[in-house]
Amino acid sequence: MKVVVIGSGYVGLVTGACLSDFGLNVTCVDVDKEKIAMLKRGEIPIYEPGLKEIVEKNQKAGRLFFEVKGDEPISEADVVFLAVGTPPKDDGSAEMKYIFSAVETFSKNHKKYQVLVTKSTVPVGTGERIEEIVAQEHSKETFSVASNPEFLREGCAVSDFMNPDRIVIGCNDQKGLKVLLDLYEPMRKANAPILVTDRTSAELIKYASNAFLAVKISFINEMSRLAEKAKADISKIALGMGMDKRIGPSFLLPGPGYGGSCFPKDTKALLKIASDFGVPLRIVESSVIANEEQAKFAVEKIVKNLPKNCENPTIAILGLAFKGGTDDVRESPSLKICKDLMEKGFKLKCYDPEASVNALKEIESLNVVPSIMDACKDSDIVVIATEWNEFKTIDLKAVKEVMATPVIVDLRNLLDREKAIEEGFKYDSIGKVFE
Ligand code: UDX
Ligand code: UDX
Repeated sequence: MKVVVIGSGYVGLVTGACLSDFGLNVTCVDVDKEKIAMLKRGEIPIYEPGLKEIVEKNQKAGRLFFEVKGDEPISEADVVFLAVGTPPKDDGSAEMKYIFSAVETFSKNHKKYQVLVTKSTVPVGTGERIEEIVAQEHSKETFSVASNPEFLREGCAVSDFMNPDRIVIGCNDQKGLKVLLDLYEPMRKANAPILVTDRTSAELIKYASNAFLAVKISFINEMSRLAEKAKADISKIALGMGMDKRIGPSFLLPGPGYGGSCFPKDTKALLKIASDFGVPLRIVESSVIANEEQAKFAVEKIVKNLPKNCENPTIAILGLAFKGGTDDVRESPSLKICKDLMEKGFKLKCYDPEASVNALKEIESLNVVPSIMDACKDSDIVVIATEWNEFKTIDLKAVKEVMATPVIVDLRNLLDREKAIEEGFKYDSIGKVFE
């Protein structure tokens, strides 16, 4: 079976590489010439653990290819995945021009029966619209349009793809469904549960899942603010909640708010979709507001912890990515905090193991340093803004030696408070109050 993936970003590249690992012949297409040139050289344009090995192995096996021009591979493909960006427009709705430009390319090169699949997160009803567009040029018997949303998380995208909680296939015709069930047969055999639905439900499963996860995070973030006032411990609250199987322990880690290329975009797009149907989504609406407030709450906490007698404090920011394990800074709460602190006139020294280059594209004047110690040296406060594993084992003795004043604001509750206090730090975190 021949597969083409249009759009070789975080979603498309991981999808294409992993499908080729199941023995499929896959061509990843992208308009970004530089990106394709890198991939042809076996270089990976994004930080994703395990991706380089999978790409190299399948390129060598002669079943994974990268092209800028997709015409020929598309005309020969049995399945064409759309994985181009669907970034938010000003009104919160998804920008669909890249999807429809890719559909035009598909239609232009459509010469045999094919299945066209939306892998990107697309508004409800997109499958219908795509079907209408292609049907203007081709008879409906010669193609199927399906929805097969991706649920991978950045930073663990390969393992998420290989061990999915579910593969959702939304298809309204048997012929297209059969092709996709054949395509995913190796994963079904490896016990990946496959859920077959109608196309519209599949499109909404994606938005509803992302929105619910965002709601869960905003819930625990609001609980963290109550915990501080009530002098309770948010980690204990999250533990106690998560032991209820109906709630579950994941996505109950408080922080400076959720970021990334999905939750902020998908919650706003879902609100727009719902309002177009005249259905208010009060819970999602409030979670978006709570998320924006959480970043402000984090800045207030940092400013409140600055040493009083300090004229022009220097703030060390550990972590710039929107979360640990990725180089992606899209909607990163850490960058929002940096911008806010810089506007207030504070001097920053910022370190991130992978995301510095992308961070500098967002904030040219950001003062980025190459290590944790460089960030902490002569700083008056250290802020842990991203949940990188390496920040969990910071050498507190060494850090205290080099800091001007020993203050830590741990926005991800990564450190052990008792240890920090023992080493002589003033330690603050999220959702816990220590007299
Ligand atoms: C993004 C969103 O994050 C995700 O929610 C959505 O489901 C798919 O789009 P991601 O892979 O993170 O996923 O996007 P990005 O990393 O921006 O990759 C999109 C790729 O599509 C880029 O490499 C871009 O060059 C390419 N592209 C874009 C095309 O190949 N053709 C186009 O017309 C537009
Ligand atoms: C998310 C969804 O998890 C994934 O299923 C979907 O396909 C794409 O969007 P991603 O955005 O890559 O994945 O990262 P995720 O691990 O979900 O984290 C999103 C944001 O929430 C990050 O900013 C992270 O720091 C934050 N987060 C996550 C919390 O603040 N607390 C948590 O408990 C979990």
